Parts: sequence; structure tokens; C-alpha cells
Amino acid sequence: MYIGPQGIVHGTTITVMNAARKISKSEEDRKGKLFITAGLGGMSGAQPKAARIAGLVSVTAEINPKAVNTRHSQKWVDEVFDSLDSLIPRIKKAVTDKEAVSLAYQGNVVDLWERLVKENIKVDIGSDQTSLHNPWAGGYYPAGFSLEESNKMMAENPAQFKTEVQKTLVRHINAVNTLHAKGMYFFDYGNAFLLEVSRAGGDVFKKNSKDEFKYNSYVQDILGPMCFDYGFGPFRWVYTSASENDLRKTDEIALGVLEDMHKTAPEEIKQQLSDNIVWIRDAMKNNLVVGSQARILYADSEARVKIAEAINKAIAEGKITAPVVLGRDHHDVSGTDSPYRETSNIYDGSKFTADMAVQNFVGDAFRGATWISLHNGGGVGWGEVINGGFGLVLDGSVDADRRLKQMLFWDVNNGIARRSWARNKEALFAIKREMERTPNLKVTLPNLVDEKTLDNLF
Ligand SMILES: NC(=O)c1ccc[n+]([C@@H]2O[C@H](COP(=O)([O-])OP(=O)(O)OC[C@H]3O[C@@H](n4cnc5c(N)ncnc54)[C@H](O)[C@@H]3O)[C@@H](O)[C@H]2O)c1
Repeated sequence: MYIGPQGIVHGTTITVMNAARKISKSEEDRKGKLFITAGLGGMSGAQPKAARIAGLVSVTAEINPKAVNTRHSQKWVDEVFDSLDSLIPRIKKAVTDKEAVSLAYQGNVVDLWERLVKENIKVDIGSDQTSLHNPWAGGYYPAGFSLEESNKMMAENPAQFKTEVQKTLVRHINAVNTLHAKGMYFFDYGNAFLLEVSRAGGDVFKKNSKDEFKYNSYVQDILGPMCFDYGFGPFRWVYTSASENDLRKTDEIALGVLEDMHKTAPEEIKQQLSDNIVWIRDAMKNNLVVGSQARILYADSEARVKIAEAINKAIAEGKITAPVVLGRDHHDVSGTDSPYRETSNIYDGSKFTADMAVQNFVGDAFRGATWISLHNGGGVGWGEVINGGFGLVLDGSVDADRRLKQMLFWDVNNGIARRSWARNKEALFAIKREMERTPNLKVTLPNLVDEKTLDNLF
């Protein structure tokens, strides 16, 4: 089941689009806003494509020419520059003309950041998606050295390589801080950027704090409150027929479900539904299927169940020619406990537990998943995360209809309940709404306390 590029482009589009909304509510005003980031690798390579879909001017720095060429030949990057002297005027023109364009700088990201500071260019959104979860083995390259020189140093003098990386990280955060002081919105992209800057001794903590970062992660600011707490996350399905016609059919089904839901949806989730309506409408055009015929979109519990029900019915009626396998990403509402990523917007002290992923896995198993998994590791590193996952085969049977309703309902609402107990207001809204929709569901609600009254008691 390979759905990597499509999933990453969709997730990155949701993130970048909502980051742009954080700085400006109007689509018109967002035109010509400048987004600076780094990394054109496996997952980070989706950034320029997502930024163009969001209508921004983006510049992504990438030190490895091979990675730049791959993304350029795929047309995810529009133009490539290996000289800052030619890139800077191109950025200025793109911003003035309000172009939706993705530029790549082939070079070290710190040289780009420092030049932007020197030129006094206004950057609207900043991030970084180099592989800083792996800083000493090629995840992040030091400034002042070519790729080849760095690789040699890494092999022959790892201690010097580490020192150079840490020196570069300090320069990196200094430039980011300068532009942030001039109004740039910066977010950590789940790649341990802030963590490694702090370990390098960079200026990244809030005033008078030794453990609170100045900047939030994209889950704290964007995906947590705007998606996961409302139950929206990456739901996906794969066709065992490998038929493009079946893919078209389920795109139509999903579009119909989302459009229907949009008509009566509360204001709080209308935006998520409209973003996904646009996504699924353009899905064939975006041409992101690699390997198996598969589709992904962000949906809540209601939408996941309705889409799955309709797919199962279409299989029973022969409109879809073979079984369909449902699944989802780890990067979702309920399946993953990861205090530095998926559960980083849980602030009641409980984010360092793995209860949700385990309950999710056990609940999914009892409620009808075809297979389930519970595992450690992933992008944030071993020992930092527990992931629960599932696969559910739809074969058009009455039994599959029963299982999908029971299992998908649990798979999402288990996480919303846990998020509501942490007093996340969006999750409180979502679980109350689910209890109204489903009278048999009884979830204990947290009692909200005025923090000031509590502080005064002790
Ligand atoms: N936010 C998310 O949803 C999400 C999802 C998956 C992964 N991640 C994290 O994002 C990071 C990147 O993932 P990936 O799969 O793209 O990794 P990758 O290693 O394929 O790509 C990172 C790229 O950064 C480049 N790079 C490193 N140092 C640089 C520098 N100083 N200047 C310019 N370019 C530099 C590398 O050459 C490489 O091509 C990882 O830490 C990963 O865990 C985040």
C-alpha cells in the first residue's frame, strides 16, 4: 500500500494553507506572501508544491543537487537558482507581482536566511524541514562547506562535523529570530529543529525559560487545533482492482459525501470540509498516484463512515469492481502518542503517555479491523512515539458494513475524547457534537476550572 507522495502533498498542503491563513484571513491578501523553508527530500519535497497550491511565493533551499533536480523535473519546483545574487531580485519580482511560484535555492539554507536579513526582505512565513532528527549523519549540512566536503568530514572527522553543524544551527536561529522580530511567523515542522537548536546552545527559549521554545510546532499551531481536535485526519483507501475507473468512482462518492456535509456543517468545520472538497475535486489533475491506485483526504468520523459505507455499497452493486482497503496515516487524531508531534498540543501534562495509541489499537481490533499494528519509531525517532494502525477490507458484504461503522467511529472518537479530557476546546466541541449525533455515546466531560482561582488556593 504505497501512498507516500499523495499523503505528504496533502498533509503539507493542509499545513502550509493554514499557516498562510494564520497570517492573513483573505485569499486576496495572501497572494505574494513569502514562505522560506529548506529540504527537497522524501517528504520535505512536497513543500514547494503545497505552497504553490496555497498561492504563495516560496523559496526552498536544498544543498543536494540531486534532490533539487528530482523536484524540478517533477514540476513541484518551478525555477532553480544556484546564486543568491540572481535569486534575490527574482524573489522581489515574484512578491511584487503576487505570483504563485515555487523557487528553489540550490545551496545551504543558512546562507539564504542570512542574505534575506542583509537585504531586509520581509518574510511572511518561515519553517525548516531538513532531517534534523538525524543531525550527525547527513540530516543537516553545515554552512561554509560543499556537500562533498561535508560528507568527507562526516566520515573522517565526525567530531568536527558535529561542531560545524552546531555552529550553523546557532547562525540559523539568529537569522530566524531577526526576521521573526520583523513580523515573520515561524513554525517547527516536526523535524526536531527547535530541539537540536537548543542542544547547540542557540537562542530558542522564551525569556526566562529553560525548556519552553519561542516557536510552536505545526501540530501545536495548525494541525492539532484546526484538524485533529475536530477529528479531521488523513483517511485513505486503496483499490485491490488497481483500476483507475474505480478510483474515479470513489472520488465521486467522497466528493458527494463532503458536499452534502458542507451544506449543514457548523462554522467550526466548514473550512476543513471546503479544503477537502477542492482537494478531491482536483485529485485526478494533481496526478499524485504512485504505485497502487489509492486516495487520501482529511475527514472526520462522520465523513469517514459515510464515505466507507458508500464505497462498500458500490462494491456490493458492482459499481466498484473489487474490494477496497481502508487505512489512515499515523499522523492523525487518535492512533499516535508522540509528545513532540501528534500529541504536542496536549497541555495537561499527559502527553508523555502512550494510552491513546494502545486503546486505539485494542479498540480497532475488537470492533472489526482486518489487521492492526502497534509499533515504536517513525520520523520523530525510536523511544519518542507509539503508533497504532489498522487496515479494514471492504468487500461489499453486510458484515463489512457493520464493521466499518463500529471501527471507524472508535478510531476517531477515542482520540477526540482523550483530547477533550486535556481540555482542548475544539475537541470539547467535537465530542459534545458527536454525543448529540450518537445518543449511545457517553463520554465524561472535564470540569473546567478557572486557573486563577485554583492558583489562589495554593
Ligand atoms: N511535518 C511532517 O508531516 C513530517 C512528515 C514526515 C517527516 N517529517 C520530518 O521532516 C524531516 C525531513 O524529512 P524528509 O523525508 O524530507 O528527509 P530527507 O532527508 O529526504 O530530506 C531533507 C533534505 O534536507 C537537505 N538539507 C539538509 N541540510 C540542509 C541545509 N543546511 N541546507 C539546505 N538543505 C539541507 C538534505 O540534503 C535533504 O535533501 C525529517 O526530520 C522528518 O522526520 C515531518
